[in-house]
Amino acid sequence: MEAMVNNIRVEKAATSKIHDVDFDNLAFGSTYTDHMLVSDFVNGEWKEPKIVPYGPISLEPSAKIFHYGQSIFEGMKAYKDVEGGVWLFRPMENCKRLNKSAERLTIPELPESYFMDGLMALLQLEKDWVPKNPGSSLYIRPFMFASGSGFHASPADEYKFIIALAPSGAYFSGKVKVLIEEKYSRAANGGVGYAKAGGNYAGQFYPTQLAAEKGYQQVIWTDDNNHEFIEEAGAMNVFVRINDTLITAPTSDRILDGITRKSILDIAEDENIATEVRKISVHEVVEAAKNGTLKEMFGAGTAAVVSPIAGFGYKGMDYDLPVLAESYAEKLKKRITDIQYNRAEDKFGWRHQV
Ligand code: PLP
Ligand code: COI
Repeated sequence: MEAMVNNIRVEKAATSKIHDVDFDNLAFGSTYTDHMLVSDFVNGEWKEPKIVPYGPISLEPSAKIFHYGQSIFEGMKAYKDVEGGVWLFRPMENCKRLNKSAERLTIPELPESYFMDGLMALLQLEKDWVPKNPGSSLYIRPFMFASGSGFHASPADEYKFIIALAPSGAYFSGKVKVLIEEKYSRAANGGVGYAKAGGNYAGQFYPTQLAAEKGYQQVIWTDDNNHEFIEEAGAMNVFVRINDTLITAPTSDRILDGITRKSILDIAEDENIATEVRKISVHEVVEAAKNGTLKEMFGAGTAAVVSPIAGFGYKGMDYDLPVLAESYAEKLKKRITDIQYNRAEDKFGWRHQV
């Protein structure tokens, strides 16, 4: 059955799976809605996106995604307010970052209107899937990959852009223990670290698995040169509070320019919290942990929101962080989620109604 939503062609699913979903017990990113948006790049252009039932896609074994890893993605969320209104948070930033990643991976850039109009139409159709429960949201996963085939190691001539949706609960359960990495690297100067390339995550899995065997949920990556400076974690940017100053590493070739990170910096400034964007040495963090000036650490990202770090491991030693009566993490998390869920004034103009 074909219909149109906001000028996008829709092939409706025959039945809905929504009543099979336990919205009170949502994991992160493992239940998918009824529909997805798909656009194909063929003959040198992106074809009009359309919405189709969520389901398997067919690719040739020689599709270049399988061999040369031309694959990028984004992560966003749709939030429901108490009156049932649905909101996005700074969606154009994701669109811009997708195209930055596309350029680096030699994937054709996507017209902004295909991204925004397609996303809005898909969300209109799937509004009922945005969870109401506190802390839950509809995770949005836009992604692009090489569907064109050939074993020649060169960019494909065909690509797919898809947006899939997953009603989701928290990414982490409880506080996170992290390991500061001393051997492996996530990214290097001149590399693809700043892009949201699938391979950046594949490369993290092995060291993260080794860390998990020792009881750490995330690795904090350090610079690939000497493992001297803190960069970011596997799925989030990292903030360190020493005394009353909140510090985060500058973005670079190696670090993802997180939308949550830059929003947190703006909110912190608005809260009169002293912030510094500068290199943070592991030595400085370890010394601050030893002398008690390291007050808190937290991760910031779309999936992670603001995730307090309970402690870190480094060179075989564990360092616990204090439990504070008034933490920056808690204050900043409240401010950002109040904006996202339409519970407070949005003085920055970040909210975007669906
Ligand atoms: N760093 C990495 C490696 C990530 O995967 C993410 C998640 O998207 C972030 C940082 C945070 O970015 P954002 O706040 O835009 O979600
Ligand atoms: C996000 O926060 O949206 C991400 O893409 C992180 C991902 C590893 C879940």
